[in-house]
Amino acid sequence: MSDAKALAWSTVRHRKWCAVVLSSAAFAGCSGDNGGPAHELCEQPSEWKSELEIEQPQDLDDDPNVLEVEIEAAVREVEILEGVLTEMWTYNGSVPGPLLRANRGDRLIVHFTNHLPEPTTVHWHGLRVPSSMDGTEAVQNPVLPGESFTYDFQLLDAGTFWYHPHMNSGAQVGYGLYGPLIVDDPDDPLSHEDVVVVLSDVSLDADGQLSPGDQSGWFGDYFGRQGNVLLVNGKVEPTLRIRPSLSQRWRLINAARSRFFGLAVPGGEMIQIASDAGLSDRPLSLERLVLHPSERAELVVTVEESDSTQTTVAFQDVDRFETGRQEPDRNLFHLELDVACPERSESPPEQLASFAPLDLNDLFVRRIVLGETPSGDLAINGVVFPGSADDPAHVGYVGDTEIWEIVNETPNHHPFHLHGFLFQVLDVGGVQWPVRQWKDTLNVPPEQTARFIVSYDDRPGAWMFHCHILGHAKLGMMSVLDIREHDTD
Ligand code: C2O
Ligand code: CU
Repeated sequence: MSDAKALAWSTVRHRKWCAVVLSSAAFAGCSGDNGGPAHELCEQPSEWKSELEIEQPQDLDDDPNVLEVEIEAAVREVEILEGVLTEMWTYNGSVPGPLLRANRGDRLIVHFTNHLPEPTTVHWHGLRVPSSMDGTEAVQNPVLPGESFTYDFQLLDAGTFWYHPHMNSGAQVGYGLYGPLIVDDPDDPLSHEDVVVVLSDVSLDADGQLSPGDQSGWFGDYFGRQGNVLLVNGKVEPTLRIRPSLSQRWRLINAARSRFFGLAVPGGEMIQIASDAGLSDRPLSLERLVLHPSERAELVVTVEESDSTQTTVAFQDVDRFETGRQEPDRNLFHLELDVACPERSESPPEQLASFAPLDLNDLFVRRIVLGETPSGDLAINGVVFPGSADDPAHVGYVGDTEIWEIVNETPNHHPFHLHGFLFQVLDVGGVQWPVRQWKDTLNVPPEQTARFIVSYDDRPGAWMFHCHILGHAKLGMMSVLDIREHDTD
């Protein structure tokens, strides 16, 4: 539909539309009770997210509650820079890999085949899968070149997730192996249309080809490799169309190896409604979002009406090394402003999700110390992964609730990620976390301590935890949590 047409929708037509959508209780703009004129219907601009579209693979299963797909990892030529073909490592030939999207409660079956020149696995970041499906070297054999593995599990939580390799992951993720996985909540209280935004970067040389994943050796690992080219859904500075006053829901994923994404929308309002794994208890207004490696955020973004027809979402440097300096802002993606909607979208409700009250009394406190060794390795509780057989194991029990206290004794930030279980952050550096929300990654700033609370539901097995600056994991800041049944002691 043309823009003019969309705006010219008559009240009559609007009422008809409302009659349809009200039955699904999905459209907050249709006022029913007071009988007064409802909000003017206004739609997203045509093709509003065509430049950010990520392909969805064919569903091989007729059952509407099963998403069954094939994913092949292979080296393929992809156009990242205009007119240049770059040999990237891809899932199904594209960067990012295909968008997997299903409902909470659905079953996901992925027939995965490795055509890469080296072994790999697929890890489902943030999903509460059975441990045998977690895709780490702790629970499965590497999928060798030419071999296949089928991942098969239920999607227990709604939210914005992603998948990536868990072998040689700094190199493999940096070469392009990552993809989004969205789990929709059939009872989602928000009706804004959404767009998936996968943020990353890639290191390209003068010929537009991938720089080696181990470039600069130890320094690269320790300081965290940042690609010179910023990518939004695999593209350089793509354009998203938006109408002033009409909110969009952005599902952001930081799939970069090391880069912290600071992000601002000039002339726009950002309200964070969700973090890693589903809606927060309440919305939070942001001036600037900082997304650490592997974190997600869902934002309701509303641009104000103005004279301009274009604005640019800026990448703002986060001073990762606390040098006191900041790189200048860079363009991340552009917003083309369409004709404004006559009425502003409703704000997200004051309560988004409910959380059971927390009882912190008498909980076991697991102390995790992030440290450095004199030889320049990184360690967890003094152990450089994989450590030796004599090192004490991290053991927990099904049904238990614990507090994790992450003590960062290093001069660097570490975005800490726990596999398999979602946690709620209590505080960072003694400052209470502003909202209740489910997370799987939490940045622990230099020389600070962060605390979260986690419960182990009935999924025993080996679960990795590590820093998600992937070079740091490689230097040893990684370990395994062994979750056991209480009676198997
Ligand atoms: Cu995205 Cu071991 O993690
Ligand atoms: Cu780290």
